[in-house]
Amino acid sequence: MTKGASIYATGIDPSLLTKGQAEKWTDKYPHLGKDRVSYENSISSEFYELEREAVFRRSWLYAGRAEWLDQPGKYFTKEYEVCNASVIVVRGNDDKIRAFYNVCPHRGNKLVWKDEPREPMEGRCNRFYCKYHGLGFGLDGKIEVLTDKDSWFEDQGTELGLAEIPLETWNGFLFVNMSPEGPKETLREFLGEYYWNGFDGWPFEKLTERFTARGHTNCNWKGLMDAFNEVYHAVYVHREAFPYLQKMDVDALAAMRVEVAALVGKHGFYISPRNPQGLFVTDVERISQCAGTGPQYPMAEDLSEIPPAANPTGIEWGTSSHFIFPNIQIQFYYPGWYLIYQYWPLAHNQMRFEIECHYLPSRNFSELMSHYGHIATFWDAALQDINNLEATQLGLEMGTFKSWPLTDEEIMLRGFHRQIYDHVDAYKAQKVGVAAQ
Ligand code: FES
Ligand SMILES: [Fe+2]
Repeated sequence: MTKGASIYATGIDPSLLTKGQAEKWTDKYPHLGKDRVSYENSISSEFYELEREAVFRRSWLYAGRAEWLDQPGKYFTKEYEVCNASVIVVRGNDDKIRAFYNVCPHRGNKLVWKDEPREPMEGRCNRFYCKYHGLGFGLDGKIEVLTDKDSWFEDQGTELGLAEIPLETWNGFLFVNMSPEGPKETLREFLGEYYWNGFDGWPFEKLTERFTARGHTNCNWKGLMDAFNEVYHAVYVHREAFPYLQKMDVDALAAMRVEVAALVGKHGFYISPRNPQGLFVTDVERISQCAGTGPQYPMAEDLSEIPPAANPTGIEWGTSSHFIFPNIQIQFYYPGWYLIYQYWPLAHNQMRFEIECHYLPSRNFSELMSHYGHIATFWDAALQDINNLEATQLGLEMGTFKSWPLTDEEIMLRGFHRQIYDHVDAYKAQKVGVAAQ
């Protein structure tokens, strides 16, 4: 990658990426229109049931990162309540990473769990043993230990094996697909060429210092995707968490808007400019060299150049935020760390929110403190979003208004909600077609 890369050529019309003062983002996508948008998709339990099938059962879903499984036998589990599934992701002795439904094929006990059956876990083992009757399964899913051997009928015991799920990898990001008839498209087709090629060359695998946080809130999962698909709210909701916002004048705040953006197939991104550097407000921030947008110390490696798809026009970027359909965002923050947000539905008005922050490994206590300081600030801000969204859900559910006017700044939301409606409509049409046959 070169500094100040020119437009990343992947078939996107470059005129979509930026807008002049008199232009509107929304004009660039005439098929989306400018009408008010219905949020029925966020308040209806019937819609939620359709969405589970149409969107989550039939999409590639994020599972984790390949470097977490850096040795044979390393595994983690992932809860996909929206698909009624728990999944084991494990590196085998042949070095291949596989995914299996986390269920014992004898009598349905959840296979891998510790203390709390609904909580995820990670570890390393040679074999997975079921807690119920002691059957053991290899890292490739095949049965290796059959207890009470004489009691099984014919080959019903020796034939047992875990149910494998299609898993594919993109730049170390692991995705699984639980489509009932198998994936309709490869991960490459699902992501599209812009992303499939455009994140190459960035050392994701080196950012191994990982902090995760999970939280629940009483709002539809799309509420959080909406909130993080615009920067409009940030200066209002986060004035307390990011006190430097209080120090900025109106013009400086206005400059913190989206500078580059595009809807790319099902996905999309925006890039906002760099915040003023060194704007530490509290002594703790100054001492630990972290602000709301991340650690600010001189990093061990220059990561200020992000992948071509993350900065296609080569601007002086601050945050580059990518929503990958249906429910994750990958965000790069200057000067060099990234996060993954995940929005997992639990009901039409309940969700689990997961953050994974990835930094270069700290070289000393100061850098570690910088990471901790940043996480504390960042989580504080996330809690503000979460708290605020419970209020949004309550407001939407009042039924006072049937539709909602999205501003030009909210173009990503417009594209995202259209995708959701389109997926559910296509699924309903297919069901009707099958029923008519
Ligand atoms: S349910 Fe797993 S061994 Fe019986
Ligand atoms: Fe926010």
